[in-house]
Amino acid sequence: MREDLTKINNTTYSLDKIFPDAQDFLPLLGTDYVEYYVGNAKQAAHFYKTALGFQSLAYAGLETGVTDRTSYVVVQDKIRIVFTTPMPGEDNEIFDHIKKHGDGVKVIALWVDDAKKAWEETTSRGAESYLEPKTEKDNDGEVATSGIKIYGDTVHIFVERKNYKGTFMPGFEKWESHYNPESVGLKYIDHMVANVGWNEMNIWEKFYNETMGFANLITFDDKDISTQYTALMSKVMTNGNGRVKFPINEPAKGKKKSQIEEYLDFYDGPGVQHVAVATDDIVSTVSAMKARGVEFLYVPGVYYDTVGDRVGEIAEDMAILKKHGILVDRDDEGYLLQIFTKPLTDRPTLFFEIIQRKGAQSFGKGNFKALFESIEAEQERRGTL
Ligand code: FE2
Repeated sequence: MREDLTKINNTTYSLDKIFPDAQDFLPLLGTDYVEYYVGNAKQAAHFYKTALGFQSLAYAGLETGVTDRTSYVVVQDKIRIVFTTPMPGEDNEIFDHIKKHGDGVKVIALWVDDAKKAWEETTSRGAESYLEPKTEKDNDGEVATSGIKIYGDTVHIFVERKNYKGTFMPGFEKWESHYNPESVGLKYIDHMVANVGWNEMNIWEKFYNETMGFANLITFDDKDISTQYTALMSKVMTNGNGRVKFPINEPAKGKKKSQIEEYLDFYDGPGVQHVAVATDDIVSTVSAMKARGVEFLYVPGVYYDTVGDRVGEIAEDMAILKKHGILVDRDDEGYLLQIFTKPLTDRPTLFFEIIQRKGAQSFGKGNFKALFESIEAEQERRGTL
């Protein structure tokens, strides 16, 4: 029996109580950063600052001695996002990634205490290497990294930064900007969701279980997640301390095309579908994002006719939630509030979820139907249903 305690969202949990099946050969301290490969990193970073409330953090490019790529790093509380675009060169894998997938998530970086050990533990259990362990230094210390391949062209990079006090990583310099829009209140990454191909969900469940020690927290079958027309299945994988959660979706047969199938067509393969970010005040976060031009999925007003019966007493004013289209769900530990943006990229692929947990540790199962009907309405408009 482990006696460890961990803090999630200011609530202390016993590890054994929540995730007893996880193994601890790969201790994770949390998500370190998320890196997108994009067609124009400068403009993407500007959008995340302007519309989503991030701040400038770091920069790498010609001025810092990096010649094959340009990267801008933005930050909001514990969330760091890196936008990287390729510079001219014959053998630049970033070009191929963008050509195939459009703008999308390349790296889910995980914060570890020992990057070499993380690589050894995972590759010895069958993970394919992406980056052999290496250490980079500058005047602020050193950062050790290593990496493994996951679904599609996506990768995990393990980042060990205990001997580093610089802004981000060696090779980057601090990005000072005169334009520093206010935060919208995003705090940390709650979960990141993968879309994988037909019959691949169980393959990736096995991967996260066997090579990374994750446990299956919950499974949703196509009866849980279906509407009149479309369906999908999902398994939520978590590491031992619950700081890193990866739901894995695959399409299921329905009368019309699953939203997961639409994603796979437009991303040209498996990849990250959404990044869920936590806030302490979803109404003010969503109001601020809307004022800055972010578009959210539309939820039909009838959703609010019955939601009160389903979730019971909540602290928020239902009329305000309805005005913004914020969804509510309850489980036996409490309730949660959530809302989904429209795709943030030109292709209908990547989007953000904004989530506020008030005790509930689940994923909004009670909202799936309303949510997927509103996604179908968007698919209909795109001609991809
Ligand atoms: Fe989610």
